[in-house]
Amino acid sequence: MEKVCIYGSGNWGTTAAKIIGENIPKFSGFHQTVNMFVHPEKFNGTELTELINTTNENPKYLPGHKLTSNIHATSDLREALDGVTMLVVVIPHQFLPSSMKAVAALIDTSKLKVISLIKGMYIAKDSIQTTTQAIEAILKVKPSVLSGANIASEIAGHQICESTLGCAFKSESDLWYNLFQTDYFNIQCVTDVYGVELYGALKNVVAVGVGIAEGTGVGNNSKAAILRLGLLEMKKFTLHLFPDTPNDIILQSCGVADLVTSCMGGRNYKLGVEFSKTKKSFDQLEEELLGGQKLQGPATAHEIYLYNKNHNLTEEFPLFTIIYQICYESRDTHDIFKTLHGLRL
Ligand code: NAD
Ligand code: 13P
Repeated sequence: MEKVCIYGSGNWGTTAAKIIGENIPKFSGFHQTVNMFVHPEKFNGTELTELINTTNENPKYLPGHKLTSNIHATSDLREALDGVTMLVVVIPHQFLPSSMKAVAALIDTSKLKVISLIKGMYIAKDSIQTTTQAIEAILKVKPSVLSGANIASEIAGHQICESTLGCAFKSESDLWYNLFQTDYFNIQCVTDVYGVELYGALKNVVAVGVGIAEGTGVGNNSKAAILRLGLLEMKKFTLHLFPDTPNDIILQSCGVADLVTSCMGGRNYKLGVEFSKTKKSFDQLEEELLGGQKLQGPATAHEIYLYNKNHNLTEEFPLFTIIYQICYESRDTHDIFKTLHGLRL
């Protein structure tokens, strides 16, 4: 009997709980209660877990969408992990290492099946670590990944979309597929993992860039040109790190489709626009505009820049480099268009 725990309760974490909670009753072989670990916090004076369990709604991170009653929210990690066989990890990437260390301290993870829904990456010593590599280093298991054109609030409203499931093992892939596939959330399964997750992390940077371009007042053609250069750099960077990434992964939902949706309406895009217009820092904008949700794009731009600088690659990735410089080194926002001058790719 499989038992599922969702580690995370933010905007996407709560939406994942909604999908899984709706799906679980369709299958025997799954424990019918799904635990959702909630980072302890209060909302309007009441514990968030209490509000979720009594109203079947997460009023802070996904207001207006009801969860099924088989979702049990808890901030007691030991309780959340009790009997777990399938762990869904869905938290902002900056909190991942400490969170996974807490899991490893409480349970034997050797037989645990893990999937990451996170879009981010890390600098580890002199190289980049993907989120599944970071999880593997701590939990000692090979995680799968789910990533796609998945703006959470749209999915919570049952608007049809697609997502890419990257899993190297067929029997495990089938289990994750059953957990997530619905008539409004259509999953394509691939065996690649690193390409799937890296495209999801890199598109956040490009979305910030397209937002910055929008904030300068340009029209759609100029933004499309930035998006295209971003796509080229996403592919080049992914193949630089993982040369075995199949060529068609970028055509899956986790690649071009996620880039398009994120550059039209994601949080990174929206705050890129505001940054460009107001020149307030991303930290301030996150605080003012996101209601506790977290931004991944600027931090990822920083991580890529550190890696590229260490490897003399900053000129190979002019868009990634200039987005970092605009975000963190006060470079003029209009300079983003210099990356397009005479571009022959
Ligand atoms: P979010 O942006 O809503 O972030 C809030 C979450 O962070 C809350 O669950 C909060 O409890 C948690 N948190 C705050 N401080 C913490 C701490 N110190 N330790 C641990 N947790 C803490 O989160 P999200 O939207 O669920 O995003 C999670 C991941 O999913 C990110 O990598 C994101 O890129 C990815 N993602 C998001 C969406 C989306 O539309 N929101 C879609 C696809 C993928
Ligand atoms: P943002 O974090 O920019 O909102 O992107 C969400 C996402 O990953 C959509 O697929």
